[in-house]
Amino acid sequence: MANPSLYSPLVLKNFSLKNRIVVSPMCQYSAEQGFATDWHLVHLGQFAIGAAGAVIQEATSVSPEGRITYGDLGIWEDGQIEKYRQITEFIKSQGSIAGIQLAHAGRKASTEKPWLGRKQFSPTEEHGWQTVGPATLPYHEDEFPAKALSISEIETLVLKFKDAAQRAVQAGYQIIEIHAAHGYLIHQFLSPLVNTRIDEYGGDFENRIWLLLEITASIQEVLTSEQSLWVRLSATDWAEGGWDLEECIELVKILKDKGVEVVDISSGGAVHHQQIPVEAGYQVPFADAIREQCHIITGAVGLITSAKQAQDILDRAAADFIILGREFLRHPHLVYDWAQDLGVDIDWAAQYARAKIE
Ligand code: FNR
Repeated sequence: MANPSLYSPLVLKNFSLKNRIVVSPMCQYSAEQGFATDWHLVHLGQFAIGAAGAVIQEATSVSPEGRITYGDLGIWEDGQIEKYRQITEFIKSQGSIAGIQLAHAGRKASTEKPWLGRKQFSPTEEHGWQTVGPATLPYHEDEFPAKALSISEIETLVLKFKDAAQRAVQAGYQIIEIHAAHGYLIHQFLSPLVNTRIDEYGGDFENRIWLLLEITASIQEVLTSEQSLWVRLSATDWAEGGWDLEECIELVKILKDKGVEVVDISSGGAVHHQQIPVEAGYQVPFADAIREQCHIITGAVGLITSAKQAQDILDRAAADFIILGREFLRHPHLVYDWAQDLGVDIDWAAQYARAKIE
């Protein structure tokens, strides 16, 4: 294959990715009081050395209580910016684009790190705190009730996303991704199975999407001509009566009008009784439908594990670019290998070039 599109630039309004392979945000649960450490620099930096088009940093919380665990990254205070600047500068130095996912876990917060059991802490335990959500229902019956956010607390939350975005800009991130997927706070508002409010933030579709639209607008105010605004969405709750593809398509059309440049299409996470038919590329049909109906730059993610599979998705016009999570953990430099699989010659980091099979 002479010029596989996987290795052609992804051209955005303000900058381009050198290829269409992007590192998915992946929590490392290795922050200290929300501050990034050398782990994050080395972890994210390795993908930039490996020629990823963009590296999106894990869910980074806009407030302490928005963390999934006490080890999550945060961007709620200015002191956190310094280490992030080091990370973005390194990623940039390798010709990759640095992205950050701004998040709030809502009712799924206050849990133990996955490798220590993932259980939710009560608000009074050492590593726990009171969770918040659109309503009080916990994610799982064994967990603790959330506090339903008041209108004034929602207003404060929107400002926290804006302040976090402002810090992200100062830190040098060029992709600002809003985490509106996987059953975290914004998705909790979108999903009729979780959002049982009867005020202007609950009920109809227009009310359930309102928080995301407010956050989108507030973030837009602080972006400059250097950034691109992305949103990660779950296209369905995989549960009867839940958020679904039809609503997601309507939402993406509105987001596009509001200046969101890219959507990153995932699924699930809102309710414990979800039934997900997990198989290779199982979320790609959602990206395909959204791309076709909304005419927006769309990323596909989920069990994409080979160059051929990724290139096929682009050839079928099911997505504009590919986002990979676990495959990057297994093979941090897979962009080099996949280029060889597809017969493309790409630049390697000079320090590694002697390992290139010509
Ligand atoms: C994830 N995932 C994830 N998603 C997200 O939007 N924000 C996050 O911070 C995380 N954190 C995270 C940590 C780890 C260790 C894994 C494995 C996954 C989900 C991830 O970004 C991706 O969507 C899924 O893993 C599916 O893609 P893959 O892994 O099949 O390519």
